[in-house]
Amino acid sequence: MTENQDRGAWSSRIGFIMAGAGSAVGLGNIWRFPYITGENGGAAFVLIYILCIFLIGFPVMIAELTLGRKTAKNPVGMFHALAPGSPWKYVGGLSVITGLVIFSWYSVIAGWVVGYLYKTAAGHFNNLTDPSATETIFRDFVSNPFSVILLTAFFIALTGYVVFKGVKSGIEKWSRVLMPILVVLLILLAIRSVTLPGASEGLIFYLKPDFSAINTNMLIAALGQAFFSLSLGMGTMITYGSYLSKKDNIPTAAAWVCTFDTLIAILAGFVILPAVAAMGKAYTEGPGLIFQVLPSLFGEMPGGQIFGVGFFMLIIIAAITSTVSILIVPVAYMVDEKKWSRRNAVGFMCLIAFVLSVPAALANGAVGFLSSLPGLGTDYFTIISSLFGDVSLTLGSLFIALFVGWKWSTAKAKEEIESEGITFGLAKQWSFLIRFVAPITVSILLGYTFRDNIWKLFFG
Ligand code: PHE
Repeated sequence: MTENQDRGAWSSRIGFIMAGAGSAVGLGNIWRFPYITGENGGAAFVLIYILCIFLIGFPVMIAELTLGRKTAKNPVGMFHALAPGSPWKYVGGLSVITGLVIFSWYSVIAGWVVGYLYKTAAGHFNNLTDPSATETIFRDFVSNPFSVILLTAFFIALTGYVVFKGVKSGIEKWSRVLMPILVVLLILLAIRSVTLPGASEGLIFYLKPDFSAINTNMLIAALGQAFFSLSLGMGTMITYGSYLSKKDNIPTAAAWVCTFDTLIAILAGFVILPAVAAMGKAYTEGPGLIFQVLPSLFGEMPGGQIFGVGFFMLIIIAAITSTVSILIVPVAYMVDEKKWSRRNAVGFMCLIAFVLSVPAALANGAVGFLSSLPGLGTDYFTIISSLFGDVSLTLGSLFIALFVGWKWSTAKAKEEIESEGITFGLAKQWSFLIRFVAPITVSILLGYTFRDNIWKLFFG
C-alpha cells in the first residue's frame, strides 16, 4: 500500500486537536519556555511571547495546516505540487534538514529526562532539598559521556520505533490520555511551587513586567520560542494537516492547539520560576534549569518520589509525541519523494540524527572543547539549538507566510479552508496578518539576528 492510501484521517476533530497538541506540547513548553523566560527578564518576555503566538504563530499555523490538507504531502512535495519547478522546493528541503537537526539535540534533553526518571525512581533525590546538591548531581550527570550518549540513543530509537509502527492512532491515543493528566500535575506542582517560602519574588519576576528589559534579542527569543513551541516552520503542521478531513475547521483547530500549548507553557513557568526564587537559584541557569529545580521541588512534597516519577514519565511521553512529529517530516520526504521504504527511511534518519546528537550530548561538560567552543564563547549545544531551533524555524515560517500570502494566495487558502460548508469568519484579519504583519515583523527580527548574533558569532 502506498503512503497515500495508507494515510487515513484523524478519528475526529478532537482527534486532530489532540495530535496537534501532542506535537506542540513537549520539552518546548516544560523545559525550554521556563529557562528562556528566565534568561530574558521574565514577565515582559511572557507578554511578548503571547503576542507572538497569537499575532504570528496562530496565522502561520492556519497556513501550514491548510497547505497540508490541500496537498496531502510532505513539505517538499507540497511546494512541488503548488509551485512546480520553482525554487520553493528548497524551502521544503530546509524543513527536512531542520527537522533532522532539531531531532538530534531535542533527543539529548529527552535523554536527560529519561535519566532523571531513573534517578527519581531509584531514590537518588529522596530528602534532597539542598539546592546546591541538585546542582552537583546535574553537573555530574550531564558530563558523563557514556550515559548521556546512551540515553540519547535510546530516545532516538524509541521515536524511530513509534514512527516505524505508524503514527496516527498511537499519537492520538497517547495525547488524549496524556494532556489532561499533564495539566493536573502541572497545576498541583505550581501550587506547591508558589507556596514555598520565598517564592513571591519569583512570582513578581514572572508576572510584573519590566518593560525596560525589552530589546531586540528578547523579541527574537520570544518569536523563535513561539514557532518552536507551536511546531511551526519546518513542515510538521503541513504534514499533520495532510491528515485532516475537508470537514475539519482548520482555524478552530489551530486556535485550540495554540491556546492549549500556551497554557501549558505558562503553567510550567508557574512551576519553575517561583521555585527558582525560593531555592535561591539564578533565573539564567539555562538548559539545566528544570533539572536543578524539580528534584528539590519533589523533595518538598509529601509523596514527592511518586510524584516525580509520574511527572518525568509524562514529560517523556510529551517529548515522544513531539519528536515523532519532527522525525515524520524527513521520513515522509524519503518515503514520498525518494520512494524509500518506511523502514529504511526511519533507520537512515535515526542514524544521521544519532551522529548529529553526539557532539550535542557532549557539549554540556563532557568534552571541554564542545562545552566552550574556542573563539565563540559558547557551547555547541547552544549554537545548534538556536540556529536550528529559533533561526531556522523563523526562516521557515517566514517563507510559509510569504508563500501563502503572496504566491499561492490567501484567496485560495480561504477556499480550501471553507471547502465543506465552513465559514472562515476572520479571513480578512488572517489575510492581513499573514501577508503583512507576519512577514514584516519576522523579516525585521531576522535581520537583527543576522547582524547581532550570527554575523558576530562567526565573523567577530
Ligand atoms: N513543539 C515541540 C515542543 O514544544 C517541538 C517541535 C518543534 C515539534 C518543531 C515539531 C516541530 O516540544
